[in-house]
Amino acid sequence: MSEDRNSKSLGSEGASASGREEIIAGLNEDLAREYKAIIQYVVFSSALKGAEYSDIAEQLKIHASQELAHALEVARQIDYLGGTPTMKSKEAESSEDSKEMLEIDLRAEQETIKNYKERIVQAERAQEFALSAKLREIIAQEQDHEIDLKDALGLS
Ligand SMILES: [Fe+2]
Ligand SMILES: [Fe+2]
Repeated sequence: MSEDRNSKSLGSEGASASGREEIIAGLNEDLAREYKAIIQYVVFSSALKGAEYSDIAEQLKIHASQELAHALEVARQIDYLGGTPTMKSKEAESSEDSKEMLEIDLRAEQETIKNYKERIVQAERAQEFALSAKLREIIAQEQDHEIDLKDALGLS
């Protein structure tokens, strides 16, 4: 049925175009997760109560601005690849309990790290090495966030 189609779609350009579409879709999911992280860190950093949480509350403010920097970078990469950055956030989670807030953040970081690992593999496969390098910088910070939260929860 597509005999008359240009053979271009069968070449390596076609393969990299479909890889690019997959990466754009994945990066938009990552961007939506970054928005969610910003919301949770903004709210939880001011909502955490108790002297034992004062250090981590300060750290969460730093996380919030780092997540914003990640969102800006991911949006820039989506645009570069020819996609449109999403305006939709993943749904933020909430809690009244300080410890639970940190657990919510920890789960979110672990989910984020898992997804960036996948994205790095996809970027390497598509030979998008600059993207891969940026994602590696981001994932290093996400791992620091995970450590901060585990420390605060007494899990490390
Ligand atoms: Fe992030
Ligand atoms: Fe993070």
